[in-house]
Amino acid sequence: MGEALKPVPVPLGQVPEVAALLTRLGLGALRQDAVSAFFGRNDTWAGVTDTGMPVFVKRTLGEAGQVRRMVGRTRAMGVALDGHPVIHTPRFLGGDDDMGLLAFTLLEEARSGVDLAEDGDFTWDLAHAAGTQVGTLHDLPAPEAVAADDSAPPMPPRDRLAALTLEEYTAAGGAELETWAILHDDPVVTRAIDDLCERERRGPRVLAHGDLRLDQLLHHDGVLYLTDWEEARLADAARDVGAFAGEWLYRGVLGMAGPDDGLNDREVIAAGARRFEELRPYVEAFWTGYLEARPAARDDHELPVRAVAFAGWHLIDRIMVTAHQRGRLSALQRAVAGVGRTALLRPADLTATLGLGEGR
Ligand SMILES: Nc1ncnc2c1ncn2[C@@H]1O[C@H](COP(=O)(O)OP(=O)(O)OP(=O)(O)O)[C@@H](O)[C@H]1O
Ligand SMILES: [Mg+2]
Repeated sequence: MGEALKPVPVPLGQVPEVAALLTRLGLGALRQDAVSAFFGRNDTWAGVTDTGMPVFVKRTLGEAGQVRRMVGRTRAMGVALDGHPVIHTPRFLGGDDDMGLLAFTLLEEARSGVDLAEDGDFTWDLAHAAGTQVGTLHDLPAPEAVAADDSAPPMPPRDRLAALTLEEYTAAGGAELETWAILHDDPVVTRAIDDLCERERRGPRVLAHGDLRLDQLLHHDGVLYLTDWEEARLADAARDVGAFAGEWLYRGVLGMAGPDDGLNDREVIAAGARRFEELRPYVEAFWTGYLEARPAARDDHELPVRAVAFAGWHLIDRIMVTAHQRGRLSALQRAVAGVGRTALLRPADLTATLGLGEGR
């Protein structure tokens, strides 16, 4: 990967609260010339402090109450998972609830799941390890702050499935509006999404990560870490399983053609399905690890079905995120949304296709 493009961290002088947090935690100080940042939605600062502590600080974004809950959930998960024998996560060092700051041990030179997948270095063993950790997580008792948090997960956006507010409409870009239009013109799919959320609300819930994407996995010194507990909640186990499967399905559909290759939807889907055949072992390995860690999940016969539906939602979610950066949706992105729709509408037919079949 090219080294040329490195994001520039927000100067520490402009965010005195970062130094204040590190001082309060007794971690020393970060020197501006020794700090770097990561690409992502959030402002981040990474470096080794003058007392020799490798730290990673991020500032979460959102409305004040939301930010406070994110910090609260992260803190609770950090405490619950500190030193856990199976679930690995960068050590939570402390946070600032009002400023939305979170500090963790920096995993120096770590590679994310996305980097590994892009370089062909994501192994089946890593997928299995991810499944073991997530299965173990789903059997843990939820820490108080997570159990007490009954705020709705931000995704799927139940309150925007029928229409956007005028404010949301005017703030959205072209491709985002196209994505919303795909949903708003399709009451069958929005009903399927809403049903999935309603079943989650009424059904059995576990301690879930809530935002399990490949870029939330970090590989460091031979150990796989799960990061970003901001959306941890009591939720349907299928959310996490489906997100992991959805990540690979997304890569399958996207990876087979260059954007706007001039293929029609049917060709894109057929080729995407073929390419996904190569990726399915990652989901199978995850599912094997998951069931080994959490054998009781076998009794929840509908779990793989709901997971396929969540994987379908995940594809639409990914399109929304990329739409944010574009003027128009490409034909390929529309095809991805089409595959997502199929998974949402016919999940029971696709469990084995997605690698979540029985007998593992
Ligand atoms: N403790 C850590 N040590 C090293 N790198 C980390 C650590 N935590 C996160 N990272 C890396 O920092 C980058 C930014 O992380 P961050 O979670 O802020 O962004 P993001 O994942 O894009 O945001 P979000 O998950 O909130 O959408 C990611 O690439 C992640 O791999
Ligand atoms: Mg992240």
